[in-house]
Amino acid sequence: MEKQQKSGHLVLVMAPFQGHLTPMLQLATILHSKGFSITIVHPELKSLNPSNHPEFTFVSIPDKIKESQLSDEDLADKLKESLVSTVDVAGSLQSLNKNCTAPLQKCLENILHSHHHIVAVIYDTLMFCAQTIVNDLGLPGITLRTSTATTLLLFPELPQLGEKELMSGIESPELQALQLQRLRALIVQNPTQMMMEVRAAFTNAMKFSSAIIVNSMEFLELEALSKVRQYFPTPIFIVGPLHKLAPTICGSLLTEDDKCISWLNKQAPKSVIYVSFGSIANIDKQELIETAWGLSNSKQPFLWVVRPGMVCGSEWIESLPNGFEESVGERGCIVKWAPQKEVLAHAAVGGFWSHCGWNSTIESICEGVPMLCRPFFGDQLLNTSYICNVWKIGLELQNLERGNIERTIKRLMVDMEGKDIRKRAMDLKKKAALCLMEDGSTSCYFNGLIKQITVSET
Ligand code: UDX
Repeated sequence: MEKQQKSGHLVLVMAPFQGHLTPMLQLATILHSKGFSITIVHPELKSLNPSNHPEFTFVSIPDKIKESQLSDEDLADKLKESLVSTVDVAGSLQSLNKNCTAPLQKCLENILHSHHHIVAVIYDTLMFCAQTIVNDLGLPGITLRTSTATTLLLFPELPQLGEKELMSGIESPELQALQLQRLRALIVQNPTQMMMEVRAAFTNAMKFSSAIIVNSMEFLELEALSKVRQYFPTPIFIVGPLHKLAPTICGSLLTEDDKCISWLNKQAPKSVIYVSFGSIANIDKQELIETAWGLSNSKQPFLWVVRPGMVCGSEWIESLPNGFEESVGERGCIVKWAPQKEVLAHAAVGGFWSHCGWNSTIESICEGVPMLCRPFFGDQLLNTSYICNVWKIGLELQNLERGNIERTIKRLMVDMEGKDIRKRAMDLKKKAALCLMEDGSTSCYFNGLIKQITVSET
């Protein structure tokens, strides 16, 4: 395939995590379809199979991060300790950025030599070292936020964004319902020097970037967005849902098990609860057992993703309780990794019990699937607050005991309360579809983004 195209050359810098590399790959696909040629630079820790994406040039850079230092499992344990962030996570991100700085700089210089010109470098916000490098090279740096724009309000290192400023003007019901103050308090509690440094580097990079791209939809966070804009003069482009703009892209690092689709085909419409906690979160054996009995006792059919290693101290599902399989029979299907977007779009799926990672949240919204929220860390807490308090398209599972799980599943899947929630979820689905129309907000932002990239070139 022709790699040098008419709109110029873009370099995209990925972060080595499933929830981050998929939206970057989707963005690459869309920009490629607009005529840009693309090089994807990624830390060698996690990489996609380049032969599945022959339209891009892939460059791997050494990160000197051992799998054990930044593996999903290890990261999940560290993140769980303090809900939001820890010294170790901050340390790992700092090491990743420190170790990638020189190789990324060299890589960009090599690309400049061969292509003579790079119109912009688009980097994941976690790869904040990229901004310093592009500043030195005189290239425009654009950052991709794979979560909501609202998360930017949670960082205390934002210039002029103290508690007083954050709260002033938060009289809108939407922002009040979101409980930003409570979530921010969780983030700022007991910061270490390392955490403050990483957050400062992160927000600093965003300040110097020439644009911020967000994989969200404007209508979902309109109120917060106007607040974000007060503190970030940088142009913000809300271009989601990227997975709907690049639907054929599969960026899974694990193999999707398609057998669950034939199982779904045999289930009644909207009867199945789909359970998945994304690519990082871990649970302990007790939670596995309570989840198993909660699902069994709810009497609803379920499709459950248990990643190998997701249950601490187990290889896979060998810790499931005795009698569980017999009690469930054909009513349950457990897989290691599912084709999630296809699952959520399936007519049999009526609810999504999720950790509320942003990709899962936005994928669920686009299919009108109501959610049961079990957040673990980071932006999942904010997403849960949006889902349950602002959009009201889900219920939070606060107590992970089997009786409560059973009752909450029934509230969502069977009760009148669930019917209202489903109706609101379907309304959001319709609004999401409108964003993608020619005059919808996403299309307009995309045109603006392309213009911005092209203008910075001239
Ligand atoms: C991480 C963070 O946890 C999340 O909070 C942040 O918003 C993004 O980075 P992750 O935990 O993996 O992401 O969750 P999520 O953002 O939901 O991304 C998971 C992706 O994996 C989704 O695109 C989902 O479709 C996909 N997936 C998940 C599958 O394809 N199959 C599965 O079985 C499970």
